[in-house]
Amino acid sequence: MTASTTASTPATIRREDYTPPAFLVDTVELHFALHPTATRVRARLAMRRNGESHDLELDGEELMLLSASIDGVALPSYRVASLPSGGLRIEGVPDSFMLETLVEISPEANSELSGLYLSGGNYFTQCEAEGFRRITFFPDRPDVMSRYSVTIEAEKTACPVLLSNGNPAGGGELPDGRHWAKWEDPHPKPSYLFALVAGDLVAVRDSFTTRSGREVALAIYVRQGDEDACGHAMDSLKASMAWDETEYGLEYDLDVFNIAAVSDFNMGAMENKGLNVFNTKYILARPDTATDADYEGIETVVAHEYFHNWTGNRVTCRDWFQLSLKEGLTVFRDQHFSEFMGSAAVKRLANVRRLRAAQFPEDAGPMAHPVRPDSYVEINNFYTATVYQKGSEVVRMMRELIGPASFRKGMDLYIARHDNQAVTIEAFVGAMQDASGIDLSRFARWYAQAGTPEVTVSDSFDEATGRYTLSLTQSTPPTPGQPTKQPVPIPVAMGLLGPDGAALPLRLSGENAAEAPEERVLLLEEAKQDFVFEGLGTQRPVPSLLRGYSAPVKLHGLGLETLGFLAAKDSDPFVRWESAQQYATAEMLRLVAAYRAGQEPTLPDGLAGIFAAVLERAEQDPAFAAEALALPSEDFVAGQMRIADPEAIHLVRQALRRQLGTRFASRFAALHDSLADAGPYRTDGDSIGRRALRNAALTYLGRADAGDGLARARVQFAAGANMTDVLAALRVLVDSEDPAREDALAAFHASWRADPLVLDKWFTLQAVSTRPDTLAAVQALAKHPDFDLRNPNRVRSLVGAFAAGNPAQFHATSGEGYRFLAEMVIALDPVNAQVAARIVSPLGDWKRQSPDRAAIMRAELERILALPGLSKGTFEKVSKSLA
Ligand code: PHE
Ligand code: ZN
Repeated sequence: MTASTTASTPATIRREDYTPPAFLVDTVELHFALHPTATRVRARLAMRRNGESHDLELDGEELMLLSASIDGVALPSYRVASLPSGGLRIEGVPDSFMLETLVEISPEANSELSGLYLSGGNYFTQCEAEGFRRITFFPDRPDVMSRYSVTIEAEKTACPVLLSNGNPAGGGELPDGRHWAKWEDPHPKPSYLFALVAGDLVAVRDSFTTRSGREVALAIYVRQGDEDACGHAMDSLKASMAWDETEYGLEYDLDVFNIAAVSDFNMGAMENKGLNVFNTKYILARPDTATDADYEGIETVVAHEYFHNWTGNRVTCRDWFQLSLKEGLTVFRDQHFSEFMGSAAVKRLANVRRLRAAQFPEDAGPMAHPVRPDSYVEINNFYTATVYQKGSEVVRMMRELIGPASFRKGMDLYIARHDNQAVTIEAFVGAMQDASGIDLSRFARWYAQAGTPEVTVSDSFDEATGRYTLSLTQSTPPTPGQPTKQPVPIPVAMGLLGPDGAALPLRLSGENAAEAPEERVLLLEEAKQDFVFEGLGTQRPVPSLLRGYSAPVKLHGLGLETLGFLAAKDSDPFVRWESAQQYATAEMLRLVAAYRAGQEPTLPDGLAGIFAAVLERAEQDPAFAAEALALPSEDFVAGQMRIADPEAIHLVRQALRRQLGTRFASRFAALHDSLADAGPYRTDGDSIGRRALRNAALTYLGRADAGDGLARARVQFAAGANMTDVLAALRVLVDSEDPAREDALAAFHASWRADPLVLDKWFTLQAVSTRPDTLAAVQALAKHPDFDLRNPNRVRSLVGAFAAGNPAQFHATSGEGYRFLAEMVIALDPVNAQVAARIVSPLGDWKRQSPDRAAIMRAELERILALPGLSKGTFEKVSKSLA
């Protein structure tokens, strides 16, 4: 049952209310006697008073207290009070003392997957953000940092593997077929980084020698049978370890680095010190089971968790409001790493696409919050695209502003100053400011203001003097609790193009003519600024702005003609891609309006021209071409409308895809033929790019009015070369009326029913299908024997994919899509409140839907809110969505 249910309105936690911990814990000794329903945890905490109070309060949740003592003397029950939260209060404790408690917990009953739980008979823990209190009584907050030693005892046949943080420190046999192992972590850490893994797992081993010569034993623990699917994760780990040394001089700091993979996990992965725990989705990959996107996800997430060892673990967060201190910075680091490992430009625009798909809507919706939030009810609701992705963009801008050399110096300073400390975002910005000598006080607004800034461009040109004036304005829309905004410093990386596309020299008035660069970064700090360029001859230049997406803003004011020109001619791949996307968006919005006025959508010539140009150059950079051939998503287009029309958008987008497929059928067919993998499957950027382009071609062919797209899909599916190609082909069939559709789905299910990660794909394909009967299919799939509410991956693969990834069906005018999601949330909340609160988001979008839809959405939200015992996380999301 859920742990965090509530009868009255749950409390709001505010950043400004922070007070230092009343007691610190210098050392923690834990002893676990593992048992599925009755695990015993003995904790010995060396505690020290840090404030005025002599009354000790400890967090606790669903713990059964068996005994408690201070300095070896059992505490009489009148001195120990249970708190309504499940915690403990002990009156009159000394200044420093040894607290010993013994509790019993039931891993088997733990369906929340927070604290100690069972998955497939093995034990795993998840403590971030507040799971440690479900294991033992403790001041469970990140600014209490302690040295841990952990002893685990369990039955030897059920649990041959016993792991915790740090380095191994002994083990041995016990009577009755039991055994034990001890782990010691020399580095002080907050409780959220504690981990324990125990069970029948097998290790895939390797090693890494740090540049100072420390030999690190690497192991990835998986279930038997999965050993052959760990190679890519291990390669990614070693590459990450090497990159952190060369890029930042940061070495690993223990003798072992362990990863354990688990198929029941609320998130992607967790950076516990020396013992990362991963969702199997981000470890396991074989060519026949994982797609290229899966391979890329593994590389990124393995790196992300590894990089946390310094940014998050050695230097951690003072409180959860500072979450982006570790997450924004670590996402920045993993993205930078992935750009280094693959095609930088393509990685960049894929990340921008994801930012806009997830973070922009959040920033415009009822849950909008700053990168550093001011308050929360349930911290788990703030592991968001804003904290992670926008947080990463903010770090990236800082680097853009102070330059890479100062940024590196700032990182060194940050770590030298704050190693083994729990700090705030000011510590990071302060280090960057001191290292660069550049005042970043205004820049800090990026952390404080919610909402996506909008930049509008206008320009004028004086042919007589060759003077070009670029006028930029900025404003940030109001968000809940923040009606007015201040301007933020926006780095605008830019260039100017001549009529032939050639780069022009950029000389701002007052500057010397001698060394005018061809690219520069303008700093837009005020609400409105003019930038005057001199010496540009007689022909009006074209501005290329936000190169590389130098700031997470929306840019307005460029006309179709300019966008078309930039899409064809700019030197910056991001601007080329972006201009084509903006062009397509503008045309799609026009077609949506026309459709509502009774006009059938037809492919605009300008858009066809952009596609023709991309296709012409496609072989030069297949990965880029694949990205450029994807029309803006339905959600992205909807995001540009005050009141969305999901039906019309879907219809227009589908019509364009069909007409593009038909218009360019022969070119697509040629690409599909010529890009076939020659040798064995490889996951370098080149091979991935070729497959992406080839499958984009197949997808368009599958849409085309006539031709052999479906036949090609059938052949590609049957050939079964690798999961990327199989899934792309199956998707084409699943979206079609092809008679082979049902057989293909059945065959796929039969082949992969024993592989949960592949089965997730089977659910998702059907959930996001463009077919009109998808909603009914999804409702049926929720009753399929392989659907499982207790497995977060499965819930996301069906319910999450449908509600967040199929707007046309989710927003069906009948309201059935909304009802389906509400019912799933209601069923899930008592089982796993964290995941329930996560998947409810799409219902919160009612303000941008038509009144009839909005009314049903609100009614469904009200229905959820009325649920007795609703978790505080779902309560927070739903009540804020209704506000
Ligand atoms: N800290 C994890 C990460 O970003 C995410 C996470 C949060 C995992 C909460 C589990 C629980 O790497
Ligand atoms: Zn992280």
